[in-house]
Amino acid sequence: MIDADTLEITPALTIAGTISVPGDKAISHRLAMLGAVARGSTVIHNFAESADCASTLECVRRLGVTVERDQNIVRIEGRGFSGLQKPALELDAGNSGSTVRFMSGLVAGTPFESTFVGDASLSRRPMKRVIDPVRRFGAKVQARDDNFLPMTITGGPLSAIDFTLPIASAQVKTAVLFAGLQARGTTIVREPVQSRNHTEIALAQFGARVRTGPNTIEIDGGQELRGSEFSVPGDASSAAFFVAAALAVPNSKLRLANVGLNPTRTGFLRLLQEMQAKIEIVPASDTGAEPVGEIVVETSNIAGMEIGGHWIPNVIDEIPMLAILGTRTRNGIRIRDAAELRAKESDRIHSVATNLRVLGARVEEYPDGLFVPGQQRLVGGVVDSFGDHRIAMAFAVAGLFAAGPVVIKDPACAAVSFPSFYDLLNQVRA
Ligand code: S3P
Repeated sequence: MIDADTLEITPALTIAGTISVPGDKAISHRLAMLGAVARGSTVIHNFAESADCASTLECVRRLGVTVERDQNIVRIEGRGFSGLQKPALELDAGNSGSTVRFMSGLVAGTPFESTFVGDASLSRRPMKRVIDPVRRFGAKVQARDDNFLPMTITGGPLSAIDFTLPIASAQVKTAVLFAGLQARGTTIVREPVQSRNHTEIALAQFGARVRTGPNTIEIDGGQELRGSEFSVPGDASSAAFFVAAALAVPNSKLRLANVGLNPTRTGFLRLLQEMQAKIEIVPASDTGAEPVGEIVVETSNIAGMEIGGHWIPNVIDEIPMLAILGTRTRNGIRIRDAAELRAKESDRIHSVATNLRVLGARVEEYPDGLFVPGQQRLVGGVVDSFGDHRIAMAFAVAGLFAAGPVVIKDPACAAVSFPSFYDLLNQVRA
């Protein structure tokens, strides 16, 4: 944890070594919530160290579920959906969109009222995307301007829905599947393009039958989940910052062990490989439902490309880092079809473009993306994290390959996903 108002990152000579990044945030949220409504004990090893996942655990506790944590091992005593109790306090999701959106589906079928609150950033983020399906299932929802926190859900008996996601969002898909599990009948979710499938995988691991087809998922209501034991892979989105650092800093070679290699999350690596980046991916031989493996990265001369369409949900959290890497490519990186970035922890198109300009780069901003021309050397400067963990970390990496020091304002927000990020960065840099 760092508490200073600013952090200076100086240019690095090399990035080298072998590291493991902490457990995956997206998977940890899902396992904790499903463990809470399963029957029996769930033990989760390598649970994410992220502050967002701690918010999920606290919300689960407030719903009357016993949760014990010893460092990165979490034990949850689930008593089924009927074991959830009316929270005496508000469910505080902090900065975490996943916590509030996933949980909106989880509490939709309960016979009580739950009120979600969050920090200033989360309170600006749209909830209509989960309010609409949760209402269609039959729950009552009240929210500020019918879109923002605080949001109160009064659960009740649910009827299955056939829901087409208006936007590709794994968070909304998850809310619908969690509510579908409690509904009468078969719920169908249709996705415009495939988003991360951790929920489908986790549901199956808890013993639920989930039928998946090309961009459709079906779940029967009334199934009971069974608690189980899990080991969470390293977070591919956290690994992405280190991959980028090793690609861009001269004379680097970095090995990342035990990284999650679910193909719905590894677009960042595959796109960079297409751009001739030297990235070797070595899957572990005994990969389970959530594959893991090792990544070896070396300094590379990267071509650049346009990224849009079906790639976007796969790389949505890595786009700030990809855009910054654009400065180090031969032809630049253009991002399209990514208007969703404007609804993240900050408006990430604006945050990236503003900070890149502060560091002397040319950037073209579009409503749905940006173009970062290649062959640009960033200069030092003072950038803002905009209170957004991924912006803080992406520009810390920029500081490693800029011509001068990069000072980051409000760097501590990195803890939202990756509290040990700066320590690990210091460990691999010289
Ligand atoms: C997530 C889905 C994505 C992603 C977020 C985590 C998930 O959000 O940006 O960090 O784990 O389901 P959207 O579903 O809003 O695109």
